[in-house]
Amino acid sequence: MVWYDVISLSSLRSQRPGVTETVENTAVLLAKRPEGLPTPEDFSVVTRPLTSRDAGKIRCETIFLSLDPYMRSVIAGNHLGHGIAPGEVVPGEVIAKVTESEHPDWPLNTLVRCEGGWQQFSDQTPDSLARVPSQLSRPSLALSILGMPGLTAWAGMVDLAKVGPGDVVVIPAAVGGVGAMAAQLARRAGATTVAITSGAEKRRIATETLGYDHCIDRIEEDLGTALERIAPDGVSVYFDLVGDPTLTTVATHLAVGGRVVLCGLIQDYNGNHKTTGPHPGLWITKRATVSGLVVYDYEPQRQAFEAEFVPLAEAGELTANEEFHDGLDAAPAAFCRLMRGLNSGKVVVRLVD
Ligand SMILES: NC(=O)c1ccc[n+]([C@@H]2O[C@H](COP(=O)([O-])OP(=O)(O)OC[C@H]3O[C@@H](n4cnc5c(N)ncnc54)[C@H](OP(=O)(O)O)[C@@H]3O)[C@@H](O)[C@H]2O)c1
Repeated sequence: MVWYDVISLSSLRSQRPGVTETVENTAVLLAKRPEGLPTPEDFSVVTRPLTSRDAGKIRCETIFLSLDPYMRSVIAGNHLGHGIAPGEVVPGEVIAKVTESEHPDWPLNTLVRCEGGWQQFSDQTPDSLARVPSQLSRPSLALSILGMPGLTAWAGMVDLAKVGPGDVVVIPAAVGGVGAMAAQLARRAGATTVAITSGAEKRRIATETLGYDHCIDRIEEDLGTALERIAPDGVSVYFDLVGDPTLTTVATHLAVGGRVVLCGLIQDYNGNHKTTGPHPGLWITKRATVSGLVVYDYEPQRQAFEAEFVPLAEAGELTANEEFHDGLDAAPAAFCRLMRGLNSGKVVVRLVD
């Protein structure tokens, strides 16, 4: 069955509530565990019949699939203690449309957010679904600045670092899913923002699109020298999304009383680098507050986060920096680009226009 047949069957089915037909489901499987940087050959794209739905399950058709760095540890088998094995569908958060359901809370065509994985269709239990906020005119935002990365940024900037006027906030991976929202939250709080990124295009996005006050190119510039110039009185908040060597260099330039939020270790995810961070003596000298962040802890705050920031996004007061790829076939290469740091925004795969 070819792609347009799947689309037409899907639209036909959505007009026939409660009828379960056998259709085909394109999915991306883990072919083998990557060694070092992942390559597209570590994945395989399969199209196979979708079996009938179990009673009580809700069938969802993916519209947008989120690609995130944490998936590298999922496919390595060690994300917070679990992962997947070769042959399994790669997991991932999606925005999907309900196409088959008898559940009164989840009628046909409801837009939902769920762990649909890298596939066209998934069958979900009612309690595994979350509604995409109805006011949201761009549903992909529920995977980017208003989704998990945005909530991570809120947890880091607002809850943990408590960023305020006068702060000098340094954000690496500055234009990605988390960094883009972190910068805007810090600016809204009255702080000076410093991006660390790479390449002319991302430098442009950082300053012109996302409004960072300063930008350092991690490849072209010496980070320590740049920080001495931009933040002569020291960095008051560092949101660590990458690990060493950036972590240790920025920590060396921390102001006394500085706050550091440890959130990501992208330098280490591909398995050939081990972050150690600065010697604890440095934290002592700087009277630093160092916090660890796991976004799953903030799930109870998600509704309040959406209530505050969806209206701001709809009013055009927040900028989303999303990088779209079309079709599931594009997911492996897009993920490999992400793990090489070649993405220039939150990576989203679009399955349906
Ligand atoms: N703790 C949590 O609960 C939580 C939740 C969400 C995300 N995170 C973490 O937050 C970090 C950012 O996530 P994101 O989704 O916003 O990713 P992202 O910024 O969209 O993509 C990763 C970026 O990291 C930068 N980078 C720096 N050094 C790199 C290296 N050695 N190799 C590859 N990339 C490198 C690159 O940007 P530049 O070229 O601009 O440097 C790359 O584009 C990740 O480490 C992620 O795991 C943690």
